[in-house]
Amino acid sequence: MAESGISKVGVIGIGVMGNGIAQVAAQSGFNTVVTDISEEVLERGMGNIKKSLGRLVKAYEKSGGEKGITEDAMNEAFGRIKATTELKDLLDCDIIIEAAPEKPDLKESINRKLAELGYDNLLVSNTSGISITRLGAAYGKPEKFMGMHFMNPVPMQKGVEIIRGLATSDETYNTVVALTHDMGKIEIPAEDKAGFAINRMWVPFVNEAIRVVEEGIASVEGVDKCTLCLGHRMGPLMTADYVGLDTMLFIANVLEEEFGSFYKASPLLKRLVEAGHLGAKSGMGFYKWDGFKAAGINPDVERYRIG
Ligand SMILES: NC(=O)c1ccc[n+]([C@@H]2O[C@H](COP(=O)([O-])OP(=O)(O)OC[C@H]3O[C@@H](n4cnc5c(N)ncnc54)[C@H](O)[C@@H]3O)[C@@H](O)[C@H]2O)c1
Repeated sequence: MAESGISKVGVIGIGVMGNGIAQVAAQSGFNTVVTDISEEVLERGMGNIKKSLGRLVKAYEKSGGEKGITEDAMNEAFGRIKATTELKDLLDCDIIIEAAPEKPDLKESINRKLAELGYDNLLVSNTSGISITRLGAAYGKPEKFMGMHFMNPVPMQKGVEIIRGLATSDETYNTVVALTHDMGKIEIPAEDKAGFAINRMWVPFVNEAIRVVEEGIASVEGVDKCTLCLGHRMGPLMTADYVGLDTMLFIANVLEEEFGSFYKASPLLKRLVEAGHLGAKSGMGFYKWDGFKAAGINPDVERYRIG
């Protein structure tokens, strides 16, 4: 029996984060229903989950059973996931984890729609920076709403920020903490202020890394190598490409709005998003991407210099 008492988990969005969340929920034994906007997107997302589970089976074989999972465990986990384009198929879930794009109006409309359809259980958002209190108000049952901010890539990263809105009940909070444990993760409580804890630190760090490139102080590769020397496993520009530059820009704007110009997004970050260079998911960001493998530097970024 799960510590949380939850048996069925819904996931909205099967993108970068949603597919990892659905995978981990299913691996943790939960029946999982995931929804997205089209069959095509669902197919791609389910394909990514299958590949990710397959990597764990390979790790199991390579490590002689010390790491990863067996092929049976992979098949069981995959079999627990149902993909649907219909939001109403999530109504009997005990909790829904929303991982739609970082757009306040979209997230609010999803929350309102769930309430209109009669959903009455727990709802959490994986938002990186939108006010939890605002999104809870759109659900109309703020006591049953809070933030559950997973880290990328979800199957590998242990930490999950858990953020109460102003009206989140103790019961909701305790159930979400228990679910975090059920999913093999560690909770990091944070308050409902822009960027919560991690992005309050991380986004200014990336922004400054971009300024170092813009000002010609160091190259993209140089910047990322510097932070490897700090013991980081991946540099800030490559990580930003993984996260999605649109998401980075959105959070920078939210931070600026709440705390002022220190958090203003760098011009190069804005230009890249305007050009549709969103990082790994679009094939181009600070790096050129072949799937989720970096395949060289974006030459336009190397050329872009401001004093
Ligand atoms: N990318 C990261 O590293 C990261 C880390 C932590 C949190 N987040 C947050 O997670 C959320 C999702 O980010 P992502 O990077 O996975 O985005 P993404 O763009 O990769 O995926 C979003 C998915 O939601 C789908 N979608 C759009 N409208 C929808 C709707 N109405 N109903 C159902 N699905 C819909 C899209 O088709 C897409 O598949 C955002 O709030 C983001 O801030 C992202």
